[in-house]
Amino acid sequence: MAKAVRSVVFPVAGRGTRFLPATKASPKEMLPIVDKPLIQYAVEEAIEAGATRLVFVTGSSKRAIEDHFDTDAELERALTDSGKDELLRSIQGIVPNGVTCIYIRQGEPLGLGHAVLCAKPAIGDEPFFVHLADDLIAGQPGCLKQMADEYAQHGGSVIAVETVPPETTSSYGIVAIDTNDRNRITHIVEKPAPDVAPSNSAVVGRYLLAPEIFAKLERTGKGAGGEIQLTDGIADLMDDAAVYAYSFDGVRYDCGSKLGYLQATLAYGLAHPETGEKFRAHVMSLAAELQGGPG
Ligand code: G1P
Repeated sequence: MAKAVRSVVFPVAGRGTRFLPATKASPKEMLPIVDKPLIQYAVEEAIEAGATRLVFVTGSSKRAIEDHFDTDAELERALTDSGKDELLRSIQGIVPNGVTCIYIRQGEPLGLGHAVLCAKPAIGDEPFFVHLADDLIAGQPGCLKQMADEYAQHGGSVIAVETVPPETTSSYGIVAIDTNDRNRITHIVEKPAPDVAPSNSAVVGRYLLAPEIFAKLERTGKGAGGEIQLTDGIADLMDDAAVYAYSFDGVRYDCGSKLGYLQATLAYGLAHPETGEKFRAHVMSLAAELQGGPG
């Protein structure tokens, strides 16, 4: 019987240079999609999947993340006094009772594999999720819950994958899979050029990993981009244990890129109960205008 997955690691130490100047003094994970920061979508997805221990691996300029998940008694009092009950509920329910936040500093930006290794003291000998908040995935249920359900059936480690345009393989971890063995990954490589990529099946920012990954990461040297890559640790783990690829049901937005961020804002704005209807009318008239039709 597969162990329950109670912990999730959020590597949030990266500087987010692609969004400068917006991210000069504020973490990229705090960029909002409509009315919630990316990191809150991440936390909600992990809690839905059963996580009760949230481990944030942070760096400099990331204090806003800690503040966001802390209680703000002054703000709560002000909202209570002015009778803004709905807004009050929206800030009180961010971290439900029974869920713990742990913050660990990644002293140096040595790579994603190193960031995950920094979380080892908080995880122990249990399977855990890794969630990259840049990859926002709209899914029902969320991607991590889908992966937890998959894992409950056969154990091992599970990595979310998606088919990407072949010319983009050098932006992702790329896998080869054995479709006759429950999509077990037979090969994984970080950011290969298209001509040497084993497929166009790309790793997206969701992982369910066996704790044995930590021993592998401890001995993982620098890889692509001169960084300690999680992908290389996983390649090492595959020698001893099964790692499965999981094609999730949902839509991924690459919110680490401006275009992906705008696409997510559009999709979530259209689906939002408060803005949806009027925003749709606006988008429709804009579309008609762009096509040269009546506005
Ligand atoms: C990281 C991983 C890569 C993965 C990607 C998904 O890369 O190293 O294997 O495909 O996330 O978003 P990054 O985007 O941080 O360069």
